[in-house]
Amino acid sequence: MSEYEVLIREFEVEDYNRVRDMITSGLREAVALIVKTQVINKAGVWAILLGFVAVVGLISSIDLMSLAAVSFLTLFIYYVSGLLYMNFYCLPMELEDINSGCPIDRYEKFWVAEVGSPARREIIGSVALRMAGDSNEYKLELKRMSVDKKYRRDGTASLLLRKALDYSLEKGAKEVVLASSSAQMPAIHLYSKFGFKIRRIFTEKVMYGMIHYTIVEMSHTN
Ligand SMILES: CC(C)(COP(=O)(O)OP(=O)(O)OC[C@H]1O[C@@H](n2cnc3c(N)ncnc32)[C@H](O)[C@@H]1OP(=O)(O)O)[C@@H](O)C(=O)NCCC(=O)NCCS
Repeated sequence: MSEYEVLIREFEVEDYNRVRDMITSGLREAVALIVKTQVINKAGVWAILLGFVAVVGLISSIDLMSLAAVSFLTLFIYYVSGLLYMNFYCLPMELEDINSGCPIDRYEKFWVAEVGSPARREIIGSVALRMAGDSNEYKLELKRMSVDKKYRRDGTASLLLRKALDYSLEKGAKEVVLASSSAQMPAIHLYSKFGFKIRRIFTEKVMYGMIHYTIVEMSHTN
């Protein structure tokens, strides 16, 4: 349980910059993990390739050091271009609703978690709900769950999720749905703890298939 008091309240326009930065940095963590995982996976392929090249080098006169340098340089370029692609192409798309101005009208509800006194408050978390578009039933989609790194594992996300689920129940929503990813395992544990079930898992491929990651769709039936 948290040692400080966390207040959950509705988003206000002046929270925008702080909330946008917090959500962006939470997603950047996932992006960094996705790219790192790819490189580690690909490193296995590169090790086999290097072994092969070494054998070829030994039975021919090619300079092994140059071959190794070229191989590692290629891996490094792959890592950096993956990071750039994810950060400057995929992330802005995912954050379009937040980056295109204050999101207050684009969500049915948007809450923030804050600590401190009214004179010196600090936003440490957020969560939002919007209508899930693919059904005639009243379903809600959970978005923008994020907690500042400094305040994690202290129950803040649980308070935010409880608030969102209570609201969905109060409003008579049949279901709360969400999409997360394999790079967000803490979030998947959190949602499972609150009764969300995995509905669909699929692989998303970007950067011409060079970057793969797993999307996990979950839902909570009221
Ligand atoms: C996911 C996230 C919101 C959790 O916030 P939090 O305030 O630390 O979560 P809580 O303290 O309320 O934890 C509640 C439960 O979540 C799970 N959980 C949270 N962090 C976890 C971690 N690092 N590893 C495993 N499970 C974790 C646990 O089940 C935990 O219950 P427990 O403490 O009884 O084990 C936070 O890690 C985060 O902001 N991550 C980056 C952004 C992100 O991935 N958002 C989700 C988008 S879908």
